[in-house]
Parts: sequence; C-alpha cells; structure tokens
Amino acid sequence: MNIYEIRTKAVREIGKAGSDTPELDADLIIGDVLAQNRTWILFHRNSQLTDEQAEKIDSAIRKRTEGLPVAYITGKKEFYGYEFIVTPDVLIPKPDTETLVDFALSAVTSETKSICDLCSGSGCVGLSIYSALLDSGIKYSSIPNFTFVDISQAALDISKRNAAKLLNPISVQKISFAKSDILENISGTFDIIVTNPPYIPSGEAAELLKDGRNEPLLALDGLSEDGLGIIRNLIPQSLAHLNEGGLLAMETGEYNAEKAAELMRKAGFRDVAIEKDLAGLLRVVHGRK
Ligand SMILES: C[S@@+](CC[C@H](N)C(=O)[O-])C[C@H]1O[C@@H](n2cnc3c(N)ncnc32)[C@H](O)[C@@H]1O
Repeated sequence: MNIYEIRTKAVREIGKAGSDTPELDADLIIGDVLAQNRTWILFHRNSQLTDEQAEKIDSAIRKRTEGLPVAYITGKKEFYGYEFIVTPDVLIPKPDTETLVDFALSAVTSETKSICDLCSGSGCVGLSIYSALLDSGIKYSSIPNFTFVDISQAALDISKRNAAKLLNPISVQKISFAKSDILENISGTFDIIVTNPPYIPSGEAAELLKDGRNEPLLALDGLSEDGLGIIRNLIPQSLAHLNEGGLLAMETGEYNAEKAAELMRKAGFRDVAIEKDLAGLLRVVHGRK
C-alpha cells in the first residue's frame, strides 16, 4: 500500500466517524508513524509503506474513528508554537488558552520574580510563558521562578517531562512542582498566578466526554451547576497567595466570565477586567491584589 492509498482510506473513515478535520487528522497520524511533516507526505504520495507502518497507521485510524483525539494517539500537541507531550492524564492544550498566555506575558515586567501556574495539567501555560520569555532574549537571571500546581500527580509528572523536553537542565532549576488542592498546600506568595481551572458546568462536562475523547473529567468539571465551584475557592486562595499588587489571570468559559469577574471584585481584587479570545468570546478574567 502507498501513502496516497492509506491517506485516502484514513480521510474517508475518519470523516465518516464525524471528525471536522479528517485531512489534518490523517496527515498527523501518517506523519507521526513516518516521522515526517505534512509537506513531505504531500510530495511522497507514491511511496510504498512497509507492512509495519501500514499496520500502525491502520491501528491509529481505528482509534481515531472510536473518538480518541489525534493528540492522544500521537502523544503530542502543539501549543503556543511549542510541542507538548500529552497523555489521557492531562487535558489536551486548547488554542483558546493561548489568550491566557498572551495576557500573562504582557503583564510580566522586570519586577516579576515569581509566577504560579495553578491547575497546570501538561504545564502548557507556564512552560509557554517561560519558553517565550527565554526566546525573547531575556537574560536567564531575570527570568522569574515558576511553580506548577495540580491536584493530579499524574498530570504533574507529565508537566515535569514537558519541562525537561522544552528547557535545558539549568532552566528547569527555576521550576518547582507541587501537588495541592488549589493552593491549600502552598506556603509561598507570587507576583502572578496564571490559571486555567476546570470551569465547565458539571452536567455538561460529563456529556462532553461521551464522544470518546477520553480527557480527564477532573480537568473539565467545575464542580457546580454554573461551573464556578472550583473558582469560588480559587479566588480567595489566590488573593491570599499574591504579593501586594500581584495579578491573578484566569481562563473561564464565555458563559461564566462575567460572574467570575464579579466574584473577584467581591473578594477584594481591583482593576478586574475580561479579555476576549480570537473568536471574540470572553475568555480571561484578571485583577490585581
Ligand atoms: C482545564 S485543565 C488545565 C490544564 C492546563 N493548564 C491547560 O491549560 O491545558 C485543569 C487542571 O486542573 C487540575 N485540577 C482539578 N481540580 C484541581 C484542584 N482542586 N486543585 C488543583 N488542580 C486541580 C486538573 O488535574 C487539570 O490538570
């Protein structure tokens, strides 16, 4: 079988199973097995596959038609221009969350000494901020210390692997990882807390997972009807763990951003405002201590 034949089959079967992006899915799967990119696949349509390669691609197509996202099949996902390791222990990084990274980066100054990525999952938010700061040419000595916090040890283990993959061993020394229910086990204070907590209304979160995507319910379920169950605790805990003038920047749903902003004002945050994502939807709620 050649690449053209297996790609045609993959696009047909993945499309029939309901994917909105069957061509992209097929190319990511084939590219992963052959360790090549989309352009290479396009220019080598007549190349023959070995039996082993064809079997691997077939098995991946089957998983995709059963609903498993491509990122869990290939074990990787691009976010903010960086490639992250993902497993079903962590949420697959979402493009909307790049708005949170952009906003946090715009708030980092030479005075920023400590950043906490709360509910860190794969580590995509904090590690993108760290990597983007390094890429912008900032001196290593001026890079803030980073703390990654998650309630899931399995997720923290993935974020550690991502730190080791994206940063050199010296840069990793500025990072610590802590298992905690929100900030309960954390003793320090921070200049910036950046967070993408679970914020989906409980009923909807369970419904979402019925499509076989296999993402952790723990990462999605906001533990209340309005999705703000975790955020209601996170806001006062963050206030207590921020230095004076410190910033909380938090991703929410477009449907509960206004309510989250109100909760922040009531808790005592000042300058509370909401940023929109690229689709124009309310996405990042932020305020200062
Ligand atoms: C929406 S995911 C975000 C993951 C990652 N930051 C991202 O943007 O892709 C939420 C994360 O919060 C973690 N989490 C859920 N409840 C938590 C809690 N009570 N305290 C700390 N982390 C929690 C989950 O394990 C999950 O990794």
